[in-house]
Amino acid sequence: MGIERTLSIIKPDAVAKNVIGKIYSRFETNGLTVIAAKMAWLSPQEAGAFYAVHKERPFFKDLVAFMISGPVMVQVLEGESAIAKNRELMGATDPKKAEAGTIRADFAESIDANAVHGSDGEETAKNEIAFFFPAMSVYSGR
Ligand code: PPS
Repeated sequence: MGIERTLSIIKPDAVAKNVIGKIYSRFETNGLTVIAAKMAWLSPQEAGAFYAVHKERPFFKDLVAFMISGPVMVQVLEGESAIAKNRELMGATDPKKAEAGTIRADFAESIDANAVHGSDGEETAKNEIAFFFPAMSVYSGR
């Protein structure tokens, strides 16, 4: 797979729990480097646009309402197979089904408030990174 970049969001529930550092530590100890980051409080328009692919799904309104309920921490992660690696570290969407030791198993409460988002493929990663970070704000020491 080689070195990839992926977009990660620490969602309002995890930011409110004050576990940004603990989640960053999971990334760093598993070969992922934070190469861009910002804290943001999304508007309904921004959250709706980011999740537009899910707009026909029954949970869309709840998902947007949750994502605008507080600040989020948004980062670009870089590393070997970063997209799959981040998804593995996150665990299943529903924390009840997430493997022990994953971020969602350890920090998430429910499928609605599930602590983190991670891009699910190469094309999505490219689009999601561009959504939050203009090219010039992404640093890579490699
Ligand atoms: S995924 O990650 O795309 O494979 O997961 P998926 O099941 O398709 O869900 C897409 C995103 O919607 C969120 N979600 C929900 N939010 C609120 N309520 C319910 N019931 C619900 N089910 C799924 C899920 O957390 C995914 O958000 P992201 O931010 O992409 O992880």
